[in-house]
Amino acid sequence: MIAWKKDYSCFNKDIDLQHQKLFALLDEFYSIVNVIREGHDQYDNLVQIFDELSKYTIYHFRFEEGIFTNPENGYSAEKIKVHKNQHQFFIDKIAEVDFASMDDDQRYYAIEFVLFLAKWIEEHILTIDKKFFTAWQEKQQKETTV
Ligand SMILES: [Fe+2]
Repeated sequence: MIAWKKDYSCFNKDIDLQHQKLFALLDEFYSIVNVIREGHDQYDNLVQIFDELSKYTIYHFRFEEGIFTNPENGYSAEKIKVHKNQHQFFIDKIAEVDFASMDDDQRYYAIEFVLFLAKWIEEHILTIDKKFFTAWQEKQQKETTV
């Protein structure tokens, strides 16, 4: 759904791999949307993909937070707060999905949701993640060359 490009790189192998895994889950979600468009019920698959997305985003966000909340990494308390709030917003969005409404109109609901998730993730990576991880990477490089 979102093709990986160099611009998305945060110059950290683990973070890039995790972001790619998120894109792969969105691809899976988008294939479910396509099956719905063909007129097939996909309720069980939707429940499953929401479950996978929820688990994986929580894992990934905690991993990122483990890095940027480390005082040695120079991220201010204010920036930590803003970044964590963005993560929580996304986690809540997935957790609050109303499966009953989704079942009433799978086509509309699933398309709206997958587009929202893709746009949010792309923006998040390109702005706040990229800014922090680029600075972090530069800091590490400086430290190893000193
Ligand atoms: Fe993040």
